[in-house]
Amino acid sequence: MADKQRLPCRIPVAAPHVPAVESVLDDLATILRSGRLTKGPYVERLEVAVAERLGVRHAVAVSSCTTGLMLVYRGLAGASRGRGRIRDEVVMPSFTFLAAPAAAVWSDLKPVFIDVDPATMNVDPEGVARGITPRTAAICGCHTFGNPCAVADLQRVADAHGLPLLIDAAHAFGARLAGRPVGAGGTAQVFSLSPTKLLVAGEGGIVATDHDWLASWVRAGREYGHDGSYDPLFAGLNGRMPELSAALAVASLAMLDQVAAARTATAEAYRRRLEQLPGIGLMEPTAEAEPSYKDFSITLDAARLGATRDTVRRALGDRGIETRCYFDPPCHRQTAFRRFHEPRRTLPITDRLASRSLTLPMGPHVDDDVVAEVCDVIAGVAQGCPA
Ligand SMILES: Cc1ncc(COP(=O)(O)O)c(C=O)c1O
Repeated sequence: MADKQRLPCRIPVAAPHVPAVESVLDDLATILRSGRLTKGPYVERLEVAVAERLGVRHAVAVSSCTTGLMLVYRGLAGASRGRGRIRDEVVMPSFTFLAAPAAAVWSDLKPVFIDVDPATMNVDPEGVARGITPRTAAICGCHTFGNPCAVADLQRVADAHGLPLLIDAAHAFGARLAGRPVGAGGTAQVFSLSPTKLLVAGEGGIVATDHDWLASWVRAGREYGHDGSYDPLFAGLNGRMPELSAALAVASLAMLDQVAAARTATAEAYRRRLEQLPGIGLMEPTAEAEPSYKDFSITLDAARLGATRDTVRRALGDRGIETRCYFDPPCHRQTAFRRFHEPRRTLPITDRLASRSLTLPMGPHVDDDVVAEVCDVIAGVAQGCPA
């Protein structure tokens, strides 16, 4: 990972889109007065509203996306175990956040890391097909940085091999694919509602699925594995979303379209300025994809730009502008996961993207002036000026 940045930062890399305080006070008061802090009506209200928005049969609220991924993996692994041979591998990108392989490993599955497409930064059907072996239990795609992956194409590969398709949709609330909100399709899509996302619960996750059995499994799984009978069917977790978090998420959902539009405008402002510079790589969504821009991540080609990623990052840090290097190191090179990776399976695009990536400030605090300042620093370093 590139050098840690100096603190304090003037412009953080992310800040939450929180609803106006007055818009949630009544709900928070209602919850506190009712004494019903968990398993109450706000979680139900959120689940109904999200299922309707995404066009899925079930939206199950959980304590985080990681918890949701763990419960879904357990459910899918259990379902495939009955099919004769050992199936314990999940095909997934290495160019993603470490929660995705962590959830698989917690569920006794082994990540099989594959490369991504350099333009979309997402897994593609050919790459997924190359990762499938007789031991594959599931395929996991990801809407990286909120850029929708090609769910229908991945589904065709999954169907051809009789495998479930899980989508790590942590970044994707607010994204659209073929004109519809991302969330339908695949066996399940799992969202994060942590503070850096467009839909905010504080901490939280949503498992979206059309499969009744999987929704029931996740509902029991978030409740220690039992369905209220005090006789668990399997060893579950406490994976519940608290009522206060659900109330925040309900208010946040009401602002989602506005938040998504603001982030798209910020991304376009960055793009207009950065595409003027040589050596800057920008994520290229497909024609039918409208990203959420959970992150705005670029790549820097030092030879063409005339400055390395780390030099640019230091110059921004010196100005109090915080950045990240998502996802460097990529998962297949991380201490916890490298033992799962077969060295003969090279991931050149992932390695290149990771070593060049720079995630710029994005969120409600990033206006046109901030975009201009960030881009001017990058341009200054590129031209060899003291930025
Ligand atoms: C791609 C990806 N998957 C999973 C997660 C985990 O989400 P959570 O923090 O809600 O568990 C994150 C977190 O940001 C993420 O970026």
